[in-house]
Amino acid sequence: MSHLSTTLESVASRDPLRAAAVDTVKALALAVADIATLIRWPSGDVALGAASGSANADGDNQKALDVLADEMIQNALCKVPSVALYLSEEQDGAVPLHDSGTIIVASDPLDGSSNIDTNVSVGTIFSILPAVDGALQAGRNQIAAGFFVYGPQTTLLLTFGESIMAFQLDNDGQFYDMDWQVRIEPKTDEFAINASNMRQWQSDVAAYIADCLAGTNGPRRRNFNMRWVGSLVADAWRIFRRGGIFLYPADARSGYGAGRLRLVYEANPVAFLVEAAGGKAVDGNGPILDILPESLHARVPFIFGSANEVDEFMRYRP
Ligand code: F6P
Ligand code: MN
Repeated sequence: MSHLSTTLESVASRDPLRAAAVDTVKALALAVADIATLIRWPSGDVALGAASGSANADGDNQKALDVLADEMIQNALCKVPSVALYLSEEQDGAVPLHDSGTIIVASDPLDGSSNIDTNVSVGTIFSILPAVDGALQAGRNQIAAGFFVYGPQTTLLLTFGESIMAFQLDNDGQFYDMDWQVRIEPKTDEFAINASNMRQWQSDVAAYIADCLAGTNGPRRRNFNMRWVGSLVADAWRIFRRGGIFLYPADARSGYGAGRLRLVYEANPVAFLVEAAGGKAVDGNGPILDILPESLHARVPFIFGSANEVDEFMRYRP
């Protein structure tokens, strides 16, 4: 079993941006080991799922763990001289860290915060970009991206754009290679969507899901299973493991005209991993990775997973 830092040395190469990304991933892994410890056994009388009393830039009420995880990630990045800017889902604006830094790190420090109190998997998502191109750049530019899951196992999925690496945290705070060839199966019989929004969906989403639900009697001629964890990281991890399609589309609710998920902090890093694993990630028009973010906190309709099924969904688009 290879240690995270050993594997990272092998990808560092002579490219200074890649070397900076490697240093960043090492620093994030240290912070995440501390966040995992905190989640397992909060010190003092900290109620991790309690409202912090504040809201983030998107209007979400922040939980205590959202705020703590954001501080811990920022502190870790402060120790990496290559990081010029920290973009956090939990902070209104970009946080400048080092004047001579060459990379930008965007993060959703605590994804799935509605699940903190329910003892269901949550995670930390990150995206690493070159600093020269500024804070708003297409996901295709990512140097590296990944996400950690705090679940029955604490894990990391990581890519530098080619293959994907998977690691698991041991009891001593060290990440080891899981020895898993990560590929998303092109074909699937499983979808993930929050079906409570059905009456708000646009007609293409409604028609696609109706045909999945029709099973062997419908046009798809096979039965589909459904899963919805409610933490993007956990739904994504399952799709990397056994295939599937995830949809958080635009819908008719006020404020959901571009879905719920954020392009910079959530969709871009997950899409970078998905494409590296042979899957597809789209907003319903084209690849997520080709979209230029209009603002740091912009939302995007997000559909990703098994390539054949994403193609099938696109056939329902007007
Ligand atoms: O970060 C947003 C998030 O918590 C994702 O992790 C998750 O996929 C989604 O929201 C769940 O949204 P909803 O509560 O609307 O199903
Ligand atoms: Mn999130």
